Amino acid sequence: MKHLIDKLRREQDLSAEEFRMLLTERSKETDLYAREQADQVRQQVYGNEIYVRGLIEFTNYCKNDCYYCGIRRSNRNAQRYRLTEEDILVCCREGYELGFRTFVLQGGEDGYYTDEKLVSLIRGIKEIYPDCALTLSIGEKSEESYRAYREAGADRYLLRHETACEEHYRKLHPAEMSGENRRNCLRILKKLGYQTGAGFMVGSPFQTVDDLVEDFLFLKELDPEMVGIGPFIAHQDTPFHDRESGTLEDTLFYLALLRLMLPNVLLPATTALGTIHPKGRELGVRSGANVVMPNLSPVSVRKKYMLYDGKICTGDEAAECRYCLSRRMEAIGCQIVTDRGDYRTVHR
Ligand code: 5AD
Ligand code: FES
Repeated sequence: MKHLIDKLRREQDLSAEEFRMLLTERSKETDLYAREQADQVRQQVYGNEIYVRGLIEFTNYCKNDCYYCGIRRSNRNAQRYRLTEEDILVCCREGYELGFRTFVLQGGEDGYYTDEKLVSLIRGIKEIYPDCALTLSIGEKSEESYRAYREAGADRYLLRHETACEEHYRKLHPAEMSGENRRNCLRILKKLGYQTGAGFMVGSPFQTVDDLVEDFLFLKELDPEMVGIGPFIAHQDTPFHDRESGTLEDTLFYLALLRLMLPNVLLPATTALGTIHPKGRELGVRSGANVVMPNLSPVSVRKKYMLYDGKICTGDEAAECRYCLSRRMEAIGCQIVTDRGDYRTVHR
């Protein structure tokens, strides 16, 4: 399989058949080989610099009912909360002082935050922090809404496609949601000039190799600036409460393939990866990831934004996570930088 890994690095593309082979004919050696190649490509493009994003989880109300997600509307055990504009600005101030130059506003699909409220929030943050990038991660909206946020100053948007296979999508979501709508949102976001992030969960229930092949082909075609992947982890109050988690090995291998296929992509070593293994994020970086996204939410709400069980860092102050991550990155020869960390085109 090394020849396919070499080919992916050289040509940044493979056929469906080749992806299927690469994903089925796995061995320890080829996994490690892919990860080493991806680590090299990350260094060629981004050097030893790791970008940080301050994640502000501003609401855990959600109108959706995704079967895997801990903040789904049917979860009566979730204690719901919303942050005010003032709360959010306090998070930004703390983050700015810690060297964050990207803020990610993430939340459930919560109708309380009307477009008017969101536009005022976006304008407010960009007015105080014109040198920072603002990323939204608030789900599926209309083209008009996406345009309004963009015009208000939002720079980036994260919306994982979750799975590129419609049949698989229907097994993870209730009938009122569709993968097609989601993929269409992603295309609109790109058209509106957002740096756009897609992505999927590794080892989500019912995921097959064919689904993953579709994920890779879809991502190649979409050509997003960012890709977020992390292991699926069960949440106790969801229909998938007794499902196995995605594995470390699979996540690292897919991170590596993504770095080889999309050399410039902004690729986070996610909190979910850090949750399934104590060195998950470090291993992620050494497999091609170049972004970490510590939590900036107030400690008082951290435990309430539980998408899955066992989430790390829910008791730590933002500053603790910031310094913890600096130490962790330095231990593997990398360095967190004070930088917006925009998408970069290759310097090779
Ligand atoms: N395990 C891992 N990731 C999850 N997400 C939601 N629920 C889970 C879970 N149980 C991911 C989804 C979503 C992102 C915000 O978090 O991919 O897009
Ligand atoms: Fe949060 Fe290490 S990153 S405690």
